[in-house]
Amino acid sequence: MRIAVGSDHAGFHLKEAVKAYLQKNGHEVLDMGTHGTDSTDYPLYAAQVARAVGEGQAERGVLVCGSGLGMCMTANRFHGARAIVAPTAEHARLGRLHNDANILCLGERLTPEDQALEMLKVFLATDFEGGRHQRRVDEIERLSGDQE
Ligand code: RB5
Repeated sequence: MRIAVGSDHAGFHLKEAVKAYLQKNGHEVLDMGTHGTDSTDYPLYAAQVARAVGEGQAERGVLVCGSGLGMCMTANRFHGARAIVAPTAEHARLGRLHNDANILCLGERLTPEDQALEMLKVFLATDFEGGRHQRRVDEIERLSGDQE
């Protein structure tokens, strides 16, 4: 799978661990930065990853900041992006199964690396269930004015 990743300074170390995990497991990674721990602003990276996913250059995205929250708020402003913060692996599973989530947002300051990678594993392995859930996902776009 081609996966876009991004972080701010507070998520840099976990983003690097995510990148290594993805590459080890045979995925192609588009790294949108940041590339170090100098202070920077999370919307810059959330926008790049959300655009890549929304426009189809990447099938999924992973965004990391301190909490995951700012990344999630930003990513969901972009057409076609369905970003979630997953406090547990079960949230990651349900986000895929019912919501067809395509971007996983993680908080490096709140989630230990092993738990974050477990969530990522579940996020990548779970297929969207479709059916009645497809109608609901379509309604998100329609009601927010994005339906063509
Ligand atoms: C940076 O200090 C922090 O606010 C940011 O990484 C993120 O947690 C915002 O949502």
